[in-house]
Amino acid sequence: MENSNLAAIVLAAGLGTRMRSKHAKVLHALGGAPMIARSLRAINALGARPIVVVVGHQASEVEAAARANSDAHLAFALQPDLKGTGDSTRCGLESLPVEFSGDVLIGYGDVPMITAETLRAFHAAHHQSRATLSLISVRLDNPSAYGRVVRDEAGKVQAIVEARDASSAERAIDEINTGFYCADAKFLRAALAELKPNNVQGEYYLTDIVMIARGRGLEVNAWVAKDPAEFAGINSREELANMEAQIREQTNRKLMAAGVTLVDPATAYISEQAEIAADVVIGPNVQILGKCRIGEGVQIDGTAWLKDVEIGPRCHLKIGVRAEECRIGEDSDIGPFAHLRAGTDLEGHNRIGNFVETKKARLGRGSKASHLSYLGDAVIGRDTNVGCGVITVNYDGYEKHETRIGDRCMVGCDTQLIAPVTVGSDVYVASGTTIIREVKNGALVMSHHPQREKSGWMRSWRDRHNDPTPVEGESK
Ligand code: UD1
Ligand code: CA
Repeated sequence: MENSNLAAIVLAAGLGTRMRSKHAKVLHALGGAPMIARSLRAINALGARPIVVVVGHQASEVEAAARANSDAHLAFALQPDLKGTGDSTRCGLESLPVEFSGDVLIGYGDVPMITAETLRAFHAAHHQSRATLSLISVRLDNPSAYGRVVRDEAGKVQAIVEARDASSAERAIDEINTGFYCADAKFLRAALAELKPNNVQGEYYLTDIVMIARGRGLEVNAWVAKDPAEFAGINSREELANMEAQIREQTNRKLMAAGVTLVDPATAYISEQAEIAADVVIGPNVQILGKCRIGEGVQIDGTAWLKDVEIGPRCHLKIGVRAEECRIGEDSDIGPFAHLRAGTDLEGHNRIGNFVETKKARLGRGSKASHLSYLGDAVIGRDTNVGCGVITVNYDGYEKHETRIGDRCMVGCDTQLIAPVTVGSDVYVASGTTIIREVKNGALVMSHHPQREKSGWMRSWRDRHNDPTPVEGESK
């Protein structure tokens, strides 16, 4: 839903001193992604185009994080010196085409709870009011350090006064500026050019555009948002952790309402991006990160770490599964204690049992590896059984090599496949075989040393050690 008449500027140049971090504030992770991703998601849902992100501290890192975590059409502007929100907005505005004459939504990259619904309502109210400039305000019991919204007797917004610059009467005002604005682009360009750093901090205050608009007799509308929590910023690690908990709770509640069972919501850590179908049962201590998709009726017993995994309907993940960037096809049984690394692709009806590690391994429908195996860089057909302790020897110290195994094979226990190597279909691999070259369809392959037996050897061995223990079957 693109809106060619709406652009956005997201201020994100600050460091966030109280985080006590060398990383810019918007880079800190929240809900499984850098904080800035959340502001961008809400703004993008409005269809603003472009969205200009103003970067300063760790500009290239913030730019990379924003790009990697947003589907939005983003542009970036550098604010070389942090001279205030007005200066920052000016830097952003310079990135918009000169002929752009629509609305500009201005907001912060470090307001992660903001929702698209609220921004949409605000934008609609801005249009209805026909104001040149609108801002979102909220009422707070403790307005502390925020800028105060000063209104005249008629209730019209006159100015925003920063707490540090405010008189005691102004400081008593409980309506504060959230830092989200919507302004006519032409007005904004002209107003920003007029800003002067005449204040306690010696900064260019974006908030001064309110006074500038009023001075020209233009309409300014302060739209009071209902839920101040949406505008909570993050200033410390403690606030970050609290917000993380809040997001997690919200996500869990949504999932449960949609038919997902969380056996213990307190230990369910599920990304907002996860798509989880109805009648999925998620046991205790489970992390579902990134963009997981989990099909109907899947059961996750507990203690699992899943990232960017697609799980088909009715799969059963037993305790202790770690899986990343992989697909687990329908009706598969995984674990306990299985490690599915990136590029694992199970077609369906598969079984990956305890202490099995897979990496870039494709298993056709119905194939199984039930115990103690390593399958790396492997392509395995359908209905093949990989016995206990099978190893694909994929790494020669320099390069990785592929193992291919066909359909309906029995790969015996303790087999090593020295890759690159191909085993055909319907092959029976005797246990303990080391496969070093191609095996044809339908063959039996073995590399056993002939079994040798020396009768009576144990007696002589014990005698040499003066051990009188009788050997079974020995005549006394
Ligand atoms: C600002 C508002 C204040 C409002 C408050 C809401 C001004 C002068 N004051 O306060 O009225 O109540 O936000 O949180 O605008 N930033 C830059 N470049 C800069 C300075 C800031 O990009 O030079 C960015 C920061 O990264 C941050 C945002 O602007 O995302 C707000 O900066 P911050 O210093 O937190 O806001 P205040 O100036 O304290
Ligand atoms: Ca400041």
